[in-house]
This record gives sequence, C-alpha cells and structure tokens, in this order.
Amino acid sequence: MEILLTTTPPLELACDLLAIACDEDTLAENAHVTSVDHALGGVLRRVIEEERFRAKPTQSLMIHTHGRIPASRVVLVGIGPRSTARSPHLRSFAARAVRAAGVFGGTVALLPCPAGDPAAAVQALAEGAVLGGYRFDKYLTGEKRNPRVVKKTHLLIGDAGNAPAAAKRGQRVAAAVSRARDLVNEPAGVLTPAKLAEVAQELAAKNDLNLAVLGPEECRAQGMGLFLAVAQGSTEEPRFIHLSWKPAAASKCIVLVGKGVTFDSGGLSLKPNDSMLDMKTDMAGAAAVLSVMEVVAQENLSVEVHALAACTENMPSGRAYKLGDVLHSKAGKTVEINNTDAEGRLTLADAITYGRELRPTAIIDFATLTGACMVALGPEIAGVMSNDETLSKEWMAAALTAGEEMWPLPLPDSLVDQLKSDVADMKNTGERWGGALTAGLFLKEFVGPTPWVHVDLAGPSTASKEAGHLAKGGTGFAVATIFEYLRRLGAA
Ligand code: BES
Ligand code: MN
Ligand code: ZN
Repeated sequence: MEILLTTTPPLELACDLLAIACDEDTLAENAHVTSVDHALGGVLRRVIEEERFRAKPTQSLMIHTHGRIPASRVVLVGIGPRSTARSPHLRSFAARAVRAAGVFGGTVALLPCPAGDPAAAVQALAEGAVLGGYRFDKYLTGEKRNPRVVKKTHLLIGDAGNAPAAAKRGQRVAAAVSRARDLVNEPAGVLTPAKLAEVAQELAAKNDLNLAVLGPEECRAQGMGLFLAVAQGSTEEPRFIHLSWKPAAASKCIVLVGKGVTFDSGGLSLKPNDSMLDMKTDMAGAAAVLSVMEVVAQENLSVEVHALAACTENMPSGRAYKLGDVLHSKAGKTVEINNTDAEGRLTLADAITYGRELRPTAIIDFATLTGACMVALGPEIAGVMSNDETLSKEWMAAALTAGEEMWPLPLPDSLVDQLKSDVADMKNTGERWGGALTAGLFLKEFVGPTPWVHVDLAGPSTASKEAGHLAKGGTGFAVATIFEYLRRLGAA
C-alpha cells in the first residue's frame, strides 16, 4: 500500500472513496461534510437524516457522487464523542475506510478530524490504512482471494512538519503488526520452531540485527531443563531464538521475552478438541517480540533491545514429560509438574533466566499464558503484572497511546503458597481461582530484583471478528505498545 501526504483540496481529488471522520458532537457543523453536501446539491445531509447517521463508533454511511465531485464515493465514518477522540480512533477510522473500499479497491482519501497529538494522529492514520487492508488469504483459492485491494491512500493533512516521518513510522509499525499476524495465523504444521527460527534469520539479515539460535544440545548446555522438558514430547526440535539490536552508546537495555509454543495440545494433560482448536496461536508473544525488532532497527532506536523466544511444541507422546516429573531449571530451582498444560511458564522461566544474564534495565514478557486471564478481563484486554511500579506505569502509558487495552492485575503474596511442592522447590500450577496471578507468581520466582512486566495476552492475541483496525484471527497485539514504549525510552 502506497501512502501519500496530500495537500489537494478534498473536492478536487480524484479517488474511488473519500472518507470523512465524523465525531458525534460536531456532525451538524462538520465543515467537510457541509462542503461535500453543497457540492452534491444537499443530498449528503438528507441521506444523513434518512439513515439516522449519528457518527456513533459503529456507524458508517456511504453514498455515490455520480460525477458531481472527482471522488466516486464518499463515506462518513463515525468515531464517537469528540472529547475522548485520540489517535487510536483515527487508526480505526482509517482501517474502516480502507475496508469499506475493499469491495472495489483502488484509491482512498482520508479526511481526519482533530484527535490529540498531531504526529500521533498521522502515525495512526498510516497504521490504520495498512492494517485495514490486512488479509490472511494465502490458503484461499480462486475468487475467494479478493484481488480488488486498495493500492493507494491519500492522507489529506498536508506534508508539513514531522508528518512524513510520522506516516513512515505508522507504515513500519503496521508492517510489523501484519508480520506478527501472519505468524499467528500460520498453521502449526507449517510454523514449527525451526521455521520460526528461519523467520528470525530473515529478519536479522534484512535489518542488520544480531541473531543466535540455540538447538536442543545448546539448550542442554545452557541448563534449560524446563524448556527442554516441554519440548521432549514432540518430534519437532525446539529452537531458542535470541535476536538483538545493539546501537552504539545505548544507556538502556530491554529484554523482551515472548512465549513461543507453536502448538499447545496440552501434552499428557491433553486439551479437549474445542480448547485445542486455536492453539497454533500460542506463539503470539514470540511473534510480537520478533516482529517489533524490524521497526526498532528501521527507526534506529537508541535503546539496546533483545528479543528472546523459547520455541517448542507441547505434545503428548511416549517421550512426553509426565505429571510428577521433577525438572531442573536453568536458574537452579527444581519444579514438580502437576499439569503439563501449564507449559508456557516453564519455557518462559528458562528464557527469563537467560535474559537476566544480559543484565538488562528491565524484562518484559508476552505470553498467551492463561485462560484465567480471559475469565478475569474478557477476550480483548491483556492482564499486566509487575514487580516495579515505575516500570509498569511507563508501560501502561505506552499502551494507552498505542491504543492497546491492558489492565493491571496483582501478584498477591498470599497466593505464593499454592505453588509449594512436597518434593521440589515449587510446582508449576496452583489452584483454579486466580490462575492468571499464580502463573505470574511462578514467573516472579525467576525474575529476581530485575524490574519486570508480565503481559498475559491470551485474550487479545486473536480476534473473533473484524473490528476497527483488527481482522479476524491474529491481531499482532503488543507490537504497537512495545514500539511506543521503546521509542519513549530512547527519547528520554
Ligand atoms: N496456551 C494456554 C492458555 C490459553 C488458553 C491461551 C486459551 C489462549 C487461549 C496455556 O498453555 C494453558 O493451557 N493454560 C492453562 C493453565 C492451567 C493448566 C493452570 C489454562 O489456562 O487452562
Ligand atoms: Mn497449555
Ligand atoms: Zn500454552
């Protein structure tokens, strides 16, 4: 998709669709709507009334112009109340406009409304325009694979100040989000741990990143007994991926850890069919931390960043790890297994220990870790747990700007006893209530004093329907927030 910063007046620009963002408080006096209405001889305002268009965030209204202006169609896209409008609303506006044009394709022109910081607004428009065109259609054949895509998007905002850089940034973030979505949507039969390592290799070569990939023997030498136990039931070999960006004179170093379970059957604690259906997506954390590295490099951030992903399948077999097994972690602590379906925290614990050896300023992990987190917060909001108030505040602020919904959850000392074992230092699962928190508490045992944030994105890593900038399936959740957080850190 080509994105252009355009100064042509909206009524003079030839395009297949002219999209106007409308907030519900100023719809009546919206100057863009009024000027199009005049050019169309009063038809637009009449249709607004006939269709009861009120600019609600779920509403849009399209009309054909039949040659009365150079734009073939006009769509009004509701974004809700004016007072709360921020850049995420513009991202949604742009995506909905591009999706509305998806039926006929061609060229779209976006006419936004004021919504907070101007540079953030331009970035969001570019992000939305690209993401609105996202499709995972590589396995569709014939006419199901829609060829009428939007090829060009004009942002009707001019090219003043930092707008070009912001638009470029938005395109890059969206490309990384799209890559993460592709990885999440790819079937597990194709996207094995070895394949994920190949993707990391491509990213490294293209963007001049450093890469280390550890196979099973190297992981054994590292003492990663928890990670290897999860992997041992599968015929697919595990891969530990370490992708890094090391700019000269960086004062801060961030370790990103992503859960990379390419298929989670539950292991011997086998999941029932319906719970297993979506488990190719259990590597969404790894997809996010690997994909974001491309933008980190392209935007030349002045922060050292390491993306770690312990990638494996979790399968039942004659070689699978068993309930009651006692495993040796890289950190030295022993763990008794009471549920092989709580595999994510095992892989993450060894990756976190590896990350600590890099002496980072902070560790942030991303994991489709618990169904309990979805019970707590619903399918669209990530749970955020932390041992450091300053870090978690900065993280939450970045999430707010990036427009990804996250909510803090506690790590109560009172639940630590649930992880006590009679035969080992700890066991891998607690009781049913508070399952997201005991998973977080398990990880906390391996983090030590390093400032740390844990993001449980079991819910928002996938979407059950298209909405705003999201398509059904993988969402690329967390890429935008990670980038925003690192960018702020580099600017500080
Ligand atoms: N990958 C799952 C969590 C999950 C569930 C992600 C639904 C996305 C959607 C994780 O490995 C898991 O199985 N967690 C268990 C933990 C339990 C055994 C303590 C769960 O949530 O049931
Ligand atoms: Mn599991
Ligand atoms: Zn899992």
